[in-house]
Amino acid sequence: MTTRHLIDRLGGLAFGGDYNPEQWDEPVWKEDDELMRRARVNLATVGVFSWALLEPEEGRYDFSWLDAHLDRLHANGVAVDLATPTASPPPWFTLAHPDAMPVAPDGARLTHGSRDTYCLAAPAYRDATVRIATALAERYGGHPAVAMWHVHNEYATLCWCDHTAAAFRDWLHARHGSLEALNEAWGTAFWSQRYAAWDQVLPPRSTQWHRNPGQALDFRRFWSDTVLAAYREQRDAIRAHSDRPVTTNMMLPGYQNLDLWALGREVDLVSIDHYPSAPGLDAAADTAFGADRARSFAGGRPWLLMEQGTSTVYDRDRILGKEPSEILRHTLGHIARGSEGALFFQWRQSRAGAEQWHSAMLPHAGADSRIFREVQAVGEAVARLGELAGSTVTAQVAVLHDSDAWWALEVDGLPSADLDYHGTLRRAHRALWDAGVTVDFAHPGHDLSRYRLVVAPALFLLSDAGAANLLRYVADGGTLLVQYFNGFVDDRLHARLGGYPAMPLREALGIRVEEPRPLRRDERIVLSDGTHGTVWSESLRTEGAEASVTYTHGMLAGKPALTRHRFGAGRGCYLSTHLDDPGYAALIARLLDEAGVGPESPGLRPGVETVTRQAPDGRRWQFVLNHRADAVRLPEPALDLLTGRPADELPPGGCAVLLRY
Ligand code: GAL
Repeated sequence: MTTRHLIDRLGGLAFGGDYNPEQWDEPVWKEDDELMRRARVNLATVGVFSWALLEPEEGRYDFSWLDAHLDRLHANGVAVDLATPTASPPPWFTLAHPDAMPVAPDGARLTHGSRDTYCLAAPAYRDATVRIATALAERYGGHPAVAMWHVHNEYATLCWCDHTAAAFRDWLHARHGSLEALNEAWGTAFWSQRYAAWDQVLPPRSTQWHRNPGQALDFRRFWSDTVLAAYREQRDAIRAHSDRPVTTNMMLPGYQNLDLWALGREVDLVSIDHYPSAPGLDAAADTAFGADRARSFAGGRPWLLMEQGTSTVYDRDRILGKEPSEILRHTLGHIARGSEGALFFQWRQSRAGAEQWHSAMLPHAGADSRIFREVQAVGEAVARLGELAGSTVTAQVAVLHDSDAWWALEVDGLPSADLDYHGTLRRAHRALWDAGVTVDFAHPGHDLSRYRLVVAPALFLLSDAGAANLLRYVADGGTLLVQYFNGFVDDRLHARLGGYPAMPLREALGIRVEEPRPLRRDERIVLSDGTHGTVWSESLRTEGAEASVTYTHGMLAGKPALTRHRFGAGRGCYLSTHLDDPGYAALIARLLDEAGVGPESPGLRPGVETVTRQAPDGRRWQFVLNHRADAVRLPEPALDLLTGRPADELPPGGCAVLLRY
């Protein structure tokens, strides 16, 4: 099943959110119907947390209340994204299956009272999830209200229990083939960690000091595969009774213990939840970061923003409101990057319960409120963009992302505590976003030939195949920027011997890194061009590359900090420190220039974002989002789909979707 089904069904883009009517009663449902019409809601996610109502006791189902809500929504013109409720097992489940409650690394077993409390490796839990998914699919597989399926919610819970240990051993057996190979891969010859029998092997539970890095990395891989298997079981149970597309919502940017490339291949439609925690321009950049990742995980196909908030979520210790017009700009920031609409968590703010202070489309204050009026305006705007459904976005630049590299950078015992996988990726994306270019994410093993510039900010782990692929990319004419502590280990976390990064990538870069030299916390070093480095430095020598910037102090004085190398038809650049913001922005600008990539819309001031969606028949729509506090003139005025009138200027915080065909 493809997105086309959803697009045809909605006749445009999706607008709506999580709808939890079980919290309310008849008069409120009536009001919901009316207000959903006013807000132009056409898709509601129903049932995400409804397990206790759907199956009040093990094996006894009650669908009557859900029948009534689906019929009501359908009669009101609202299609349903029907969820399986498995992210929140009811209290009876804990009592019947205490062994299916998750265990923390220190051995503490959790219990119900919150949500997401289950062990994906526990057979009782997996069986229960397939049973309820099957029961829902049998009943609603062909229901006219159901436009798509939403399996589970944000698979995230990890577990270290005995079920997990048994499943982990099976997984390790399949991956390594023998205990000997596992010992070799994990380097157990050191610290007397050698395993003499499979039942000695455990998940990485609490222990005295550094945990074995190979064990930690394999556990993350194993857990990702466990999640995918659990998702597939429910998806297939649904597919047996329904032809509607199936998804599960990804949590971005990085707190999900999952290989999102792999998940992207399993779902009919990639869907993401995105909640920027910082306000202002940072929130807009974060929106782009999340949306560009979603589109990339979807393999360039359309995807869906499943959840966002009308306020930010916790920014450390508080919920910060969005400024007027920010809800629209965030919504359009996602749609501009290929989302087939915009949904929120949740439709109506809870009166009681755990997320009582979480924002919603309809706040406690009711319809007579700024937030609901903005939501109505956003619904109106989304409705006007219906003709964009199914169109896509292309990028000439990619940032490389690999979950193996992410997980590798989280093991114990690394040379610096300041290495931050997602922070480093975000920074590369932000510099490109500030430069006004549209960015894809790609895996180091993907075909990169369509990109003029590829940035590899944090591939500490790089497989042999990845290194060979990057070499090929440069040889064939690409421009590649590799940043420090890249390609230092292979996919077993074994150090590359004889110099870093991995061969044959080193050939494309024309360098050999001999010694990593992490910097002290807050240490700043001066480089020959006046920029500064923090976090990290490296002693490296050129092997064909030219040093364009050097270190100026200490034992690295005069040695290369930034190098460039012509290789084949392309260019490989290596940056061996964490450059300061202006220095990094200037480097990215230079590389873009050399790679022949210009901003989406030249001549626009900083803080004005542009992205273009295009249809296969050549139609193009240019989104222009003014995140500035002053008005901006548009260099090339055109008809604005949001107003139906020509636009030549945007007010502070204003947006336009310009027809470019
Ligand atoms: C999401 C979750 C929703 C809601 C929301 C609050 O991660 O899927 O159920 O809790 O966060 O921000």
